[in-house]
Amino acid sequence: ESSVRVALLGCGTVGTSVARRLVEHADELAARVGRPLEIVGVAVRDPARPRPDSGLDPALFTTDAEGLVTRADVVIELMGGIEPARGLLLRAMEHGASVVTANKALLGEDGPRLYESAARHGVDLYYEASVAGAIPLLRPLQMSLAGDSVERVMGIVNGTTNFVLDKMDRSNEDLDTVLAEAQALGYAEADPTADVEGYDARAKAAILASLAFHTRVAAPDVSCEGIMSVTAEDIRAARKMGCVVKLLAICARVRDDRGEESLSVRVHPTLVPRSHPLASVHEAFNAVFIETALAGELMFYGQGAGGDPTASAVLGDLVQAARHKVTGSRGPGESAYADLPILPLAQV
Ligand code: NDP
Ligand code: HSE
Repeated sequence: ESSVRVALLGCGTVGTSVARRLVEHADELAARVGRPLEIVGVAVRDPARPRPDSGLDPALFTTDAEGLVTRADVVIELMGGIEPARGLLLRAMEHGASVVTANKALLGEDGPRLYESAARHGVDLYYEASVAGAIPLLRPLQMSLAGDSVERVMGIVNGTTNFVLDKMDRSNEDLDTVLAEAQALGYAEADPTADVEGYDARAKAAILASLAFHTRVAAPDVSCEGIMSVTAEDIRAARKMGCVVKLLAICARVRDDRGEESLSVRVHPTLVPRSHPLASVHEAFNAVFIETALAGELMFYGQGAGGDPTASAVLGDLVQAARHKVTGSRGPGESAYADLPILPLAQV
């Protein structure tokens, strides 16, 4: 019986957790997929560095990512950044591989190009881990709510900044000290500027708005303010008012007096009353509310960052993509996103 060949691009915080699970739970995953998963290679910058936590054979590590993606049925991209990740994923799909990625920066900037490539080459493109870590959020939006009408998506989608704001509120530590802690715990991006300036949440807001409203929103078009201007004094003042400061991503359908529809998509620090459920989201947890015409209000909550929680979402995507390789089917259907209307963005 042939195996499903899996290539891993990146073996850092998330890649290590994914690899370890693939090694330690190989039989269980094979049973779910219907065939064994075979890791055919792992592309990294430094293949000589020992990586005992991954559980992988050191001979699998390579710098030849370009060659690796042509030898796989499913490529998992966990390198981050725009290039070479984008070129490698496009090359993987051209060669018939399905793709799983956690790279919100890339999806927020150039998602449609990836969707189009997936549709053209008849492969899966999954990115559940790109927004809110472990929380199953994108598949519910794409599939479970496909017959409903989403009015608003709002919540905490960046674990690092929530960790920082939460610690500043609860222990009066300064931003730099707490940010170093978030980095050490594997929550922050390789360059934590993306977290604290709000760019990471902005990319996630673009992905959420695109899926929620069946349109295309690019990250640079999302209004964004990070947490660098939030001082310890602001947090004390919020406390006196019975509030906490949270970095929120808000994606809403808005209608003007004539009923013309546009979207408001934005990221900014927000005063949240302590009685609101979002005020109780601590450390690197995330929480997202979705309001729809039929379902009403839904709340999604869980670990938004870190190696193992993110690996959970990546591996769920991998099992789906690998199963489709075995059965010859596809889903949830990026081809449906190849020709979408562009809704205007409201000025905020
Ligand atoms: P890390 O920085 O820990 O790991 C990156 C890995 O990619 C390293 O193994 C590195 O190699 C490899 N790499 C980077 N650039 C190249 C390159 N040009 N060529 C070959 N290999 C390269 O990142 P994370 O694991 O934290 O994040 C990975 C992705 O997952 C990112 O897109 C991130 O945004 C996303 N993500 C991260 C989450 C988290 O909590 N950390 C949560 C959700 C998503 P080497 O080890 O040799 O340096
Ligand atoms: N740096 C990101 C965060 C990782 O802190 O939320 C999860 O996407």
